[in-house]
Amino acid sequence: MKPAKREHWTSLLSFVWVSTGAAVGLGNIWKFPYMAGSNGGSAFVLTYLFFVVIIAAPLMIAEITLGKVTSCNAVDGFLKLSKERGRSKYWSGVALLGALTLWLVFCFYSVVAGWSVGYIYLGATNAFAGLSPESIQGLWVSFLSSPQATILCSVFFVAMTLVIVFFGVKKGIERACVFLMPALLMVLGILVIFSFVTGDGIKAIEFLFAFDPAKITPQVIISSLGHALFTLAVGACAMMVYGSYLKKETSVIKSVAIIAVMDTLVALFAGLAIFPLIFSAGLSPAQGPGLMFVSLPMAFSSMPFGSFFATLFFILLFFAALSSSLSFAEPLVDLFMEKTRMSRHGATYFVGTMTVVGAIICALSFNLWADVRIMTWGIFDLVADLSTNILLPVGALGIAIFSGLVLRKSDFGELTDKSLGRWLFGALRAVWLILAPLAILVVLVNGII
Ligand code: PHE
Repeated sequence: MKPAKREHWTSLLSFVWVSTGAAVGLGNIWKFPYMAGSNGGSAFVLTYLFFVVIIAAPLMIAEITLGKVTSCNAVDGFLKLSKERGRSKYWSGVALLGALTLWLVFCFYSVVAGWSVGYIYLGATNAFAGLSPESIQGLWVSFLSSPQATILCSVFFVAMTLVIVFFGVKKGIERACVFLMPALLMVLGILVIFSFVTGDGIKAIEFLFAFDPAKITPQVIISSLGHALFTLAVGACAMMVYGSYLKKETSVIKSVAIIAVMDTLVALFAGLAIFPLIFSAGLSPAQGPGLMFVSLPMAFSSMPFGSFFATLFFILLFFAALSSSLSFAEPLVDLFMEKTRMSRHGATYFVGTMTVVGAIICALSFNLWADVRIMTWGIFDLVADLSTNILLPVGALGIAIFSGLVLRKSDFGELTDKSLGRWLFGALRAVWLILAPLAILVVLVNGII
C-alpha cells in the first residue's frame, strides 16, 4: 500500500462527473429503453425508480464510504476495515469477486460498445439512408457475423479506455469525464428535442409513465431491481475505488443524491429520445437488445437528416459506454498496481491484454463460435448473464452486509445534526442489513433459476 502517492479528485464536482460517468452507461442508453420496452413500459420504470431510491442509492453510499474511509484498493480496503473493526479477513473475498465481476463486465461491455463504434461509422457514411427494414436487419446480421468488424470495434473501444486510464486519476479519468459527461448531456438534449419534433412524443410519455398496476408482475419487479443495481454501478467495488480517491471532507450522501438523479434522468431521457421515433415509425417497443441497432436505424432511414441524427445517437452510446468502462479498468489497474510492483503503465497493459482476450472471445460468439454452447448459453450470454445477474448481486449482498456490520455514524462526516443523523444512519443500516439482502436474494434466486 502506498497511501502517500494516492491521487485525489480535484473537487466535489469532478467526483460527481466521474461517478455519474460510471453510472451512466450502456445500462441507461441501450439496456434501459429495451428493458422498459419489453417489461411493460411504465410498470418497469416505476418499480425501477423505487428500487433506485430504496436499495441502489443506499448501497452506493455504502460503497463510496467504504472507499473514502480506507483510501486504498478494494482488497486492502476490506482487509483494513475488517481488521480495525473486528471482522473476519475473509470479507476481502467480496473485493476479489468484485475484480472478477468488473473484468467480465468489461469484456462483454466492450463488445456492445464496439457495436456503437461500428454504427457511428455506418451512420456517418450514410449507410442506412433509404434502406428497407429488411436491409437494415440484414446490415445488423452481417455486421455481427463479421469477426473482423466486431473484433476491430471492440479492441478499439478497449484501447480508448486504456489510453485514458494510462494517464491516471486526475489527468486521465477526471479530464475525460469532465468533457464526456457534459457533451453526453448536450447530445441527449438535442436528440430528445429532435425526437419530439419529428416523432410521437405523447405516445412515448404515456408508454413510459402511465401507471398501470396490473403490469407490475414478479418478473418486472425482479428485472427492475437487477437493473437498478447495475445502472448505479454497485456490487463490484468500482464505486468503492472511486470513493477512495475522495478527500475526507467530501459529503458522500449529497454526491450520491446528485449522481442517482442524473443517472435516472439520463435513462428516462434516453427513453424519451428513442420511443417517439419507434412509435411514429410504427415499430414495436418490445424489440429487445436490437432496439437501438435495428429499430432505430429503421426509424431514421427515411427521415431528413436521418443519418446525422443516427450518428449522434451512436456517439451518445459510445460516450456513455466509455465513461463507464473507465470504472471497470481503474479498479483493476489500482489493484494490480498496489498488490504487485507494477507501475500504472504496466498494470494498464496487463488489464488491457486480459480484456482484449476476453472481449475477442465474447465477440466471436456472434460469428465463428456462434455454435459453442456452455450448457444452454452462448459465450457472450454466459459472460453477460453471469456477471450482471449473479456476480454483481452477490457482490452487492456482500457489500451491504459488510457495510451494515462495520460502518459507523462517525464515518459520515456530514451527519452532524444529532437526531437527523441518527435517524438517517439507522435507516441506512436497516437497508444494508435487512432490506437490501432480502431483495437481492430474491433477484439472485431468480437469476440462478
Ligand atoms: N452503470 C453502468 C451502466 O449503466 C455499468 C456498471 C456496472 C458500471 C457495474 C460499473 C460497475 O452501464
